Amino acid sequence: MSAAAPAAGAAANDPGNAAPPLVQAHDLAKTFDVSAPWLNRVLERRPRTLLHAVDGVDFGIERGKTLALVGESGCGKSTVARLLVGLYPPTRGGFVFDGEDAHAAFQGRGARAMRRRIQMIFQDPYASLNPRWQVADIVGEPLHEHGLVTDKAALAQRVGELLGSVGLSPQDMAKYPHQFSGGQRQRISIARALATEPEFLVCDEPTSALDVSVQAQVLNIMKDLQRQRQLTYLFISHNLAVVHHVSDQVGVMYLGRLVELADKRQLFDAPRHPYTRMLLDAIPKMHDTGRPRTPVQGEVPNPLNPPPGCAFNPRCPHANARCRAERPQLQSLGGIRIACHAVQEGRV
Ligand SMILES: Nc1ncnc2c1ncn2[C@@H]1O[C@H](COP(=O)(O)OP(=O)(O)O)[C@@H](O)[C@H]1O
Ligand code: SF4
Ligand SMILES: [Mg+2]
Repeated sequence: MSAAAPAAGAAANDPGNAAPPLVQAHDLAKTFDVSAPWLNRVLERRPRTLLHAVDGVDFGIERGKTLALVGESGCGKSTVARLLVGLYPPTRGGFVFDGEDAHAAFQGRGARAMRRRIQMIFQDPYASLNPRWQVADIVGEPLHEHGLVTDKAALAQRVGELLGSVGLSPQDMAKYPHQFSGGQRQRISIARALATEPEFLVCDEPTSALDVSVQAQVLNIMKDLQRQRQLTYLFISHNLAVVHHVSDQVGVMYLGRLVELADKRQLFDAPRHPYTRMLLDAIPKMHDTGRPRTPVQGEVPNPLNPPPGCAFNPRCPHANARCRAERPQLQSLGGIRIACHAVQEGRV
């Protein structure tokens, strides 16, 4: 990555920046109704139960850049991914893609065009590839669906090219998913996602199911493809070493909200939020922060009953009375965005 890359990436989340990013989420929120069935609720006199899986998330991603989202299981990463590809409508807020209201597009006549431009890669290539289909059909399906090829020869040619672009051979077309290793299967998923020539790829833990040695290969292919095709990525991972490898910017999520959003270098070199620090302190010495390695402390609270004030306060060494009463908002501070009273007050 060039020396200018992080600064350009940071601009997407700088309110003073005039050039609009390719992807801009505004107050994006998703609430699930997890109430007991109606009759039980009435008989047991229980109210409706709402789970705020994603609760007002704002970020921008410039074209050709990668924003990584990190956070412990259950913090809402996959829900953000599903919102961005139109699998869920947002409960509140939304996102703009290349100047267009994406959710309006997903629900209207622009749905097909939007789905062509935004694709998703899932964690589990075993589950996301139909085991009874040949690779030619798996990779070729989006080409058919979007009417991008008309005859058989062109289809075979295009599928062969797509397989080549992820380091597989055109001869692999006639094979079935079970004939490939995990890493190769994920490459097939990537080839399929690329079939419609998307601009934005939402990658939900794309290498988490793979062995460490294979992860690096797949990540490098994804980085090469990004460079060649100016792809924009939202890259979800709970693994900070992976995030360090792939991202330009990093958003740290906690219980449905962003708590810190910064340039990769800044986040790893000088993490500000106490939760970001806790996550970084727990990883092996990838980066010498000068602090001893400490396992992640405490547990994520029940999302159905989040603590008042800052949701991180029960685990935070800097929590005070204000933290237990008032929820900190994500604010710009010294080139990053952060939601923490102690940082804003200069206490940490
Ligand atoms: N379809 C759903 N219905 C009800 N609750 C859900 C649904 N999807 C996710 N959740 C809940 O929303 C929260 C965020 O989940 P998720 O986005 O999958 O987090 P992550 O990907 O960070 O692990 C979790 O508490 C999860 O149990
Ligand atoms: S707002 Fe308070 S409790 Fe929350 S992270 Fe900052 S110091 Fe800790
Ligand atoms: Mg997930």
